[in-house]
Amino acid sequence: MQGDELSRALLAWYDRHARVMPWRVGPAARAAGVRADPYRVWLSEVMLQQTTVAAVRAYFDRFTTLWPTVEALAAAPDADVMAAWAGLGYYARARNLLKCARAVAGDQGGRFPASREELLRLPGIGPYTASAIAAIAFDEAATVVDGNVERVMARLYDIHTPLPAAKDLLTARAAALTPQERPGDHAQAVMDLGATICTPRSPACGLCPWRAPCAARAAGTQAELPRKTPKKVQPVRRGYAYVARRADGAWLLETRPDSGLLGGMLGFPCSDWSDAPAPAPPVAAEWQALGEEARHTFTHFHLRLSILVARLPQDAAPARGTFHPAATFRPAALPTVMRKVHDLAAATLRHG
Ligand code: ADE
Repeated sequence: MQGDELSRALLAWYDRHARVMPWRVGPAARAAGVRADPYRVWLSEVMLQQTTVAAVRAYFDRFTTLWPTVEALAAAPDADVMAAWAGLGYYARARNLLKCARAVAGDQGGRFPASREELLRLPGIGPYTASAIAAIAFDEAATVVDGNVERVMARLYDIHTPLPAAKDLLTARAAALTPQERPGDHAQAVMDLGATICTPRSPACGLCPWRAPCAARAAGTQAELPRKTPKKVQPVRRGYAYVARRADGAWLLETRPDSGLLGGMLGFPCSDWSDAPAPAPPVAAEWQALGEEARHTFTHFHLRLSILVARLPQDAAPARGTFHPAATFRPAALPTVMRKVHDLAAATLRHG
């Protein structure tokens, strides 16, 4: 099959099987002239990086309810946006999201630029996001390559070079298939194919619109592809988290510095996570060690946090952090590792 035949077969499949998503204009509406809202496409694509569709849905709904336009998001206080992002991970995305919203609401008069090239100049928009917005919101023939697309290309062309070395080759294959007509639907169709048919394990080849031209299927290698260079074993780092409650139930929390892990997020005061001995606690108190530690895996290491808890008098004057009243503190506003710390400490520090 030629590239245009492949794309036609895929689009015919997408017309019948496109997944329904809150940010998506489906193929029928698209054909009737409905345009996707660039704000919603941008927001969803930033959220979908390194995060599954299932996890993103609730966050997307919450963000667009709180902030229905890019201007509304740009005007939001940083702490509210970081709290709403809590649990999605990769917090630099949220800081860059705000920077980008403010650039679009300010310099761009509230309109996202319509080309990949201009989109790339905005803060926090890299090659993936620029291509996705250009294709999906503006129907530019840009090629969108995520993990799904890499897997589909590796199988369609039976490419055995391991990732990440194969990335350029797989991207070139995907680009050669990108049609001039309906490039936005095509991009979403390849991703849907990867997510629902050409899945990592037990792909449903019998249902695939590309089963005839698929080289891996012909060779019987689909289950082995894509190959991946094994990741290095990640180190374990250790540290301490200090969880304190004042007599009125308020929690001692601090906003982490913008640079570094969990930058800009709310959390419990911690030692640095470098296996250093426990640092001076944020406030003098009778600190008690909890038997259980909080464990969390980041991209490059596993973290084990020992937890120290204390009750503080009403007039405590900590050297670090601020008190958050029990009535307004939401554990859901914490990044996942800090929520684990909270959940482990909460029983010991129950109030009222
Ligand atoms: N994954 C990331 N973006 C997507 C999209 N627009 N459609 C389907 N899956 C996706």
